[in-house]
Amino acid sequence: MYSEKVMDHFMNPRNQGEISDADGVGEVGNPSCGDIMRIFIKVKDNIITDVKFQTFGCGAAIASSSMATELIKGKTLEEAWEMSNKAVVEALEGLPPVKVHCSVLAEDGIHQAINDYRIKQGLSPWEEKGGHTHSHDDETCE
Ligand code: FES
Repeated sequence: MYSEKVMDHFMNPRNQGEISDADGVGEVGNPSCGDIMRIFIKVKDNIITDVKFQTFGCGAAIASSSMATELIKGKTLEEAWEMSNKAVVEALEGLPPVKVHCSVLAEDGIHQAINDYRIKQGLSPWEEKGGHTHSHDDETCE
């Protein structure tokens, strides 16, 4: 049911852990299943130089966070902000439809971490555009 990419990132998650002196931290929960994700970012000259995640969630959430952190590392804050959960799912070569919502957690966590950084810098937070591939509440976790 899962692609090889998903299994790989689930079994060998990249960037798992914590950054104690992070410049921005995001924490989001998935209301439908209660799973939680934390994203830590280090930022230098507007570039995400390091990123780590902690996920108390399902395998798809772990694989999505692992892939998402790989995708935004070395990117500008703008590029990281634009990375949608759709891009994560594509990079994972697909997720089963009932699991797509799990990848939204990674996107939301990254957005929160970026805004946490912006607020700490005295900047105004960016606004969510909305329009996830799937919203949080149109599916239930299994
Ligand atoms: Fe809760 Fe996947 S994030 S089931």
